[in-house]
Amino acid sequence: MSRELRIGLLGCGTVGGGVLHLLKAQADALEAHVGARLDVARVLVRDASKSRPVAADRLTTDPAAVLEDEKIDLFVEVVGGETAAKGFIEQALHAGKPVVTANKLVLAKHGASLFGLAREKGVDLAFEAAIGGGIPIVRTLRDAMVSDRVVSLMGILNGTSNYVLTRMLDDGIDMAEAVRAAQDKGFAEADPSADLGGHDAAHKLGLLARLAFGVDLPVPTVEGIDAIEAVDHRFAARFGYCVKPLAIGRVSERGVELRVHPALVPNRSVLANVNGELNAVWFEGEGLGPCLVYGRGAGALPTAVSVVADIADVARALVAGVGGLSTTGTRAAQATADARAVPPGEVQTRYYVRFTVDDQPGVMATLAGALGARGVSIEQLVQDGRPSEGPATVVLLTHRAREADLRAALDDLNASEVRVKPPCVLRIEDPSGGGA
Ligand code: NAP
Ligand code: HSE
Repeated sequence: MSRELRIGLLGCGTVGGGVLHLLKAQADALEAHVGARLDVARVLVRDASKSRPVAADRLTTDPAAVLEDEKIDLFVEVVGGETAAKGFIEQALHAGKPVVTANKLVLAKHGASLFGLAREKGVDLAFEAAIGGGIPIVRTLRDAMVSDRVVSLMGILNGTSNYVLTRMLDDGIDMAEAVRAAQDKGFAEADPSADLGGHDAAHKLGLLARLAFGVDLPVPTVEGIDAIEAVDHRFAARFGYCVKPLAIGRVSERGVELRVHPALVPNRSVLANVNGELNAVWFEGEGLGPCLVYGRGAGALPTAVSVVADIADVARALVAGVGGLSTTGTRAAQATADARAVPPGEVQTRYYVRFTVDDQPGVMATLAGALGARGVSIEQLVQDGRPSEGPATVVLLTHRAREADLRAALDDLNASEVRVKPPCVLRIEDPSGGGA
């Protein structure tokens, strides 16, 4: 009979429930793969009265009962949030035990110290589920790309935002209703403003930058999908684009560019048909060229598949007596802040700008003049019909421009009399790699 490894499961909600299901359903296959039987010995929850798919004598609401149990071989952190989760991970690592986590918030904010602690203790800190739920992007960048240099990446990293935009476009429902549906399906964070505001995607992009570029830098541009209205979907479609919540990372002689924001992507591009809660990361390696990793980015079982893959790797390493390899040599674990971050104003791309203006003679000339004066050139311009009364909607697409120049032109227009409310500005990106 093979040996047994004991797991301490911290959290038993959407993801924790999926992990328990897979560990039970695939127990024999996992034992054969790992060389040890995996036993979930203890499960930490907040509310002991809820029904759980685990024997009552294994459940506890006392963190010490799990974290101080010396018989536990590895911990799985799926409680979410920041303070308590960070404390649990630290305590486990301090005790010299490996940790598997799905917590992008904690790793984005405290990765440097946690990876350092894991390295010091010679244990693994695995996080496949923290980026893109079920898609194997951590393994791809860490292992498959070990001999290559990733120069750019573009992804849809937040399942909730993508689901919300897809439902608004396909089913014509409003944002609030779409968010409720995402919450019901278990995609959204406990606080969905982290999804809608772009912060969850920014945490994931920070981790991707560690894995792909070996840098530990903040993401300076983080914009959510909150400002997108049904009219933007209609105009985007009219120009041959759709609106997607993007995360972008690029390295060049100018430095490292990191940004999260919704953007127009051409309907023919690889990310245009990534819909619902699906995630994708398109990246380009110097040797490999383009590569796309695509799949379910949220939800109980897809995310649990990634968590259990990490459990299997960590357990296998324990059985082989080679724990800690993932935190010693990898780019992600050794990432430094030793790189120039490209300031947002220096970014160059194309823009979609929707103005709400007074419908009076000379408006178009005012808009074009303000942009032209700052060196921003217009590629297309459309006015939406002529309303019987009230303001008009004018949408324009620019040629490639420096963000600082576009913002300066919009500031100039802000002071003009034609503007009725602040414009909606969306960048235009081409995830096929050809530049927008
Ligand atoms: P969830 O459904 O809210 O589950 C959280 C679990 O942790 C619950 O069992 C909760 O107990 C327990 N918990 C929370 N705080 C605790 C505390 N202080 N002490 C003890 N137990 C505590 O969350 P989730 O959706 O599974 O997400 C878990 C983690 O996975 C998060 O970091 C999230 O960002 C990440 N993630 C989620 C998804 C997804 O699709 N949901 C995908 C990728 C990554 P009770 O059940 O008693 O409330
Ligand atoms: N709330 C996250 C999302 C869960 O919607 O993508 C997966 O990380």
